[in-house]
Amino acid sequence: MPSATEYIERNRERFLGELVTLLRFPSVSTDPSHVEDVRNCAEWLRDGLAMLTPTRLELIPTAGHPIIYAAWETAQNAPTVLIYGHYDVQPADPLELWETPPFEPSIRNGCIYARGATDNKGQFFAHLKALEALLNSDNRLPLNVKLLLEGEEEIGSMNLRPFLEEHREMLKCDTVLISDTALYQDDLPTLCYGLRGLCYLEVTVRSTATDLHSGVFGGVVDNPILALAHILSGLRDGYGRVTIPGFYDDVVEPTSEERQRLAALPSDVDTTRRELGAPLLFGEVGYSLLERRWLRPTLDVNGIVGGFIGSGAKTVLPAVASAKLSMRLVPNQRVEDIAAKAEAAIRALAPPTVNVEVHHLHGANPVVIPIESLPIQVAARALERTFGRPPVFVREGGTIPVVEWCAELLRVPIVLMGLGLESEGAHAPNEHFHLKNFFRGIQASVEFLREYAYAASSS
Ligand code: BES
Ligand code: MN
Repeated sequence: MPSATEYIERNRERFLGELVTLLRFPSVSTDPSHVEDVRNCAEWLRDGLAMLTPTRLELIPTAGHPIIYAAWETAQNAPTVLIYGHYDVQPADPLELWETPPFEPSIRNGCIYARGATDNKGQFFAHLKALEALLNSDNRLPLNVKLLLEGEEEIGSMNLRPFLEEHREMLKCDTVLISDTALYQDDLPTLCYGLRGLCYLEVTVRSTATDLHSGVFGGVVDNPILALAHILSGLRDGYGRVTIPGFYDDVVEPTSEERQRLAALPSDVDTTRRELGAPLLFGEVGYSLLERRWLRPTLDVNGIVGGFIGSGAKTVLPAVASAKLSMRLVPNQRVEDIAAKAEAAIRALAPPTVNVEVHHLHGANPVVIPIESLPIQVAARALERTFGRPPVFVREGGTIPVVEWCAELLRVPIVLMGLGLESEGAHAPNEHFHLKNFFRGIQASVEFLREYAYAASSS
């Protein structure tokens, strides 16, 4: 039998071909017109996993999109790793900004271009190929592996939480391994030990029963767009400090140790400003760029609609306006508490001339993971062997709901081994994934599983 490394080397082209097939499924979880595509994607993954002879393999229906669960429970007196990934993707629009169509994967400049390439199909697929390489070199896995692939991460994982609660026993493990974060820089291996949480609200403001002629009724009823703008602009000051009463009550200030760790990472305000195309960066006074991205909570408006948005002019008093509003949370803020405080602040800012509705769309609590644990130290060594240099430890500003739930429900260390790059256009047009990091990911996963099997059995 070949070594795992030889097996990966010999099968590069086939692995790539399979990744292309995976990326062809438009598994857009938020869009009801793609329900079938999401399901087809899940079935294709299940059928591929069946060839890896798991001891258990299921496609589990939920109230939303299906969950895939597979297990290889063949190693006695060995630890168990739970690998997580999400096969759903964000919508691809605006389509006209893609150089090649989002669901027709195209390889150029060493990258594969498609929606979902980096977030998260390319990243989790590396672990599936690592399992295949181990099964075809050692003929068995050195430890027990459980695999959980969900189809609703991009819409808040709302059906995953009850699933985890119900299947705690089935999901029992010694560590969780996830690649859904980023390398801090190209060629710089990275382990992430903290994610921000998220509280997502929709605010709807109504002034009248229907739209009205703005000449006939202008002056006697309020304008819902202006009322909404007034509310939104009252939630944050000019430096990005959130003005919702009590918003910062539970926020943990960064320790000097953590500030130093972040300050040691290469970071340049002006380079970032230029890369982002901003005239001037923004944010809370007294916190560095990385602190503002990873350790501080924020409030943003993700979208706003109301009134006449066609070409030309229409003299109308719109009846309704609405906005999508989200807050990134940090320890020890809690979603429910922040949602309640935000709703109270919104209502307090609303003039009596309008009715306001607030809907809580989804949320996830923030999480910080201690880095001293065995699996994280093993992951650091696996990355060092793969990349030829030791990893940096970072936190991230994004959210992966399952991470905090695993920490709370399974009570094990979670390894966040990012393989993507922030510049790869996740959630944006021309999303891509560097193929060198796909193959490094396969290798790093093999290294991790092998060393962890040994280290955890002998400790
Ligand atoms: N992979 C991202 C999360 C992420 C992004 C982590 C960047 C670290 C750095 C994930 O797929 C994602 O986009 N999550 C959503 C969460 C949500 C919709 C509940 C997010 O962060 O907006
Ligand atoms: Mn995402």
